[in-house]
Amino acid sequence: MANNVRNLRFDLESIPRHWNGGRKSVTTFLDGLSLFFPAGERFFVTSVRAHQQCVKDEWLASEVRMFCGQEGVHSREHARYNEILKEQGYPVEKLEGRVERLLARVTKNTSARRQLAVTCALEHFTALLGQWLLGEPGLLDGAHPSMAALWRWHAAEENEHKSVAFEVFLAAGGGYGERVMAMIGATVIFWAKVIEHQIRMMQADGTATSLAEWRALARFLFVEPGGMGALVGHYLKYFRPGFHPSQIDSSGLLEAWKKEYQESPMYSEPKAA
Ligand SMILES: [Fe+2]
Ligand SMILES: [Fe+2]
Repeated sequence: MANNVRNLRFDLESIPRHWNGGRKSVTTFLDGLSLFFPAGERFFVTSVRAHQQCVKDEWLASEVRMFCGQEGVHSREHARYNEILKEQGYPVEKLEGRVERLLARVTKNTSARRQLAVTCALEHFTALLGQWLLGEPGLLDGAHPSMAALWRWHAAEENEHKSVAFEVFLAAGGGYGERVMAMIGATVIFWAKVIEHQIRMMQADGTATSLAEWRALARFLFVEPGGMGALVGHYLKYFRPGFHPSQIDSSGLLEAWKKEYQESPMYSEPKAA
């Protein structure tokens, strides 16, 4: 297998409430994303596994094993992370429950291949968000070292496996129209949920009506240290008929992170059994 499932267990013992350099709305933005992962990544794995019979190629079968392994560890570590958010008084059960019910509705009402198309769309988002996090170290400026490591590890592995669901979708006979329709739906629903999470998390902090906090978040997302705007072009590439995730080159960022992984003591924390 070319890549690894890194069975890391992060030290999340003493994470402060606003762990990202004390920046309240910025921290809750990342916390709000974390609330998607346990259920979201289970959905990704289920939708890929449902098409295992279409995977004839040994290379792709090995990539699928890596994908499922990596998403499984992400899901577990984000569940631990979300437990801490719950202890800090954020409405975790409520928001996670809504994500779970939404995905259960998608599972119930759409075909297996359409679910895989949704996974491909959301994997495009996770890869791009990962690329953003890896490429702009200032986004985690002053962050608690365990949380910075957790986010950078997740960002890197999202880029490592960004083509896997897409390859399985192609192997399953998925076509352009289906994946583009799934992307349009996923874009609207995912970003509506991101905004919902942001408002609810800021309400729990008592900052939902603070203009200064919203301004700080807008600066973080769109201005500095390196706005998300730069990702829009990459996002739109998904709508090209011949698109493949590998056309967006994040290999330099991934190689740099692998070096960091080898050298940083943050990744030598107790490995899970
Ligand atoms: Fe993941
Ligand atoms: Fe992923």
